[in-house]
Amino acid sequence: MARAKGTMIAVTSTKGGVGKTILTLNLAGIYQDMKKRVLIIDMDLYGGAIALNLNLNPDKTIYHFVDDLSNNRYHSFYDYVLKYNEQIDILSCPKDPRQANKIDAKYIEMILDNAIYRYDVILIDTSHTLTPVNISVLDMATVILYVMTNDPMDLKNTKSFLAILHDIEKENVKVVLNDSRDQDLNYFSTFDIKNVIRHNIDYTISASFHIRNISKYLLEGQILVENTSLSFRDFRDYDKLKKMATDLLPEVKEEK
Ligand SMILES: Nc1ncnc2c1ncn2[C@@H]1O[C@H](COP(=O)(O)OP(=O)(O)OP(=O)(O)O)[C@@H](O)[C@H]1O
Ligand SMILES: [Mg+2]
Repeated sequence: MARAKGTMIAVTSTKGGVGKTILTLNLAGIYQDMKKRVLIIDMDLYGGAIALNLNLNPDKTIYHFVDDLSNNRYHSFYDYVLKYNEQIDILSCPKDPRQANKIDAKYIEMILDNAIYRYDVILIDTSHTLTPVNISVLDMATVILYVMTNDPMDLKNTKSFLAILHDIEKENVKVVLNDSRDQDLNYFSTFDIKNVIRHNIDYTISASFHIRNISKYLLEGQILVENTSLSFRDFRDYDKLKKMATDLLPEVKEEK
């Protein structure tokens, strides 16, 4: 029986270091708990860290996928993905920036078309720049999950980014305010932020989800929400992430 079309979630931002990669990994962990088949694609082609954060060393990456495809050597999609566990696969970013230079945006559609019927959820981590590759990803995504922090520069850029999406009639964007990255970033109230960006804040990751010594946990190669040695200061943080994950899947919403 043919598999249903998966949900493609592009995690993006207009500022670097806002927590995209960590959110991508945590969502993968939550979808795993929900018994979904998950593919994480690391489209942060020059500086991706998905494989690194999961202690994986891929032989093949997006570069090989594209190179083989353009040289008629491509056989199977699964030749290019790496298993993290039974439910989570990874399609990694190139290891060398010179390889990233060779990935033309025209291949993005082919990569995503190949993935969409193979997985329930495809989580795409991106870089924060509007490159042609990222624009293709955003264009194909079922949902654009936009991550921002409570930071003046971020507010300014978010306002412009959301205005552009609105102008091109892309309304499938959900805004995540990440208060966990830096607990002291609290200049603006949510009311102020909504007023500036002219958009709702769809989800918030609370300051209580701030994890001290986060690098230590990342180095363990385990997804944070799955890490049993990590004691959450507030268990509601897991429930909030689960609510976000559930909300992003249309078929789950219909079952309610
Ligand atoms: N919950 C958290 N608790 C503590 N620190 C956090 C948390 N989330 C993010 N950070 C900090 O923010 C850094 C950046 O997070 P992350 O790599 O997920 O951001 P990014 O948006 O993917 O960055 P880039 O634009 O470089 O790809 C982390 O290395 C960590 O130091
Ligand atoms: Mg990142």
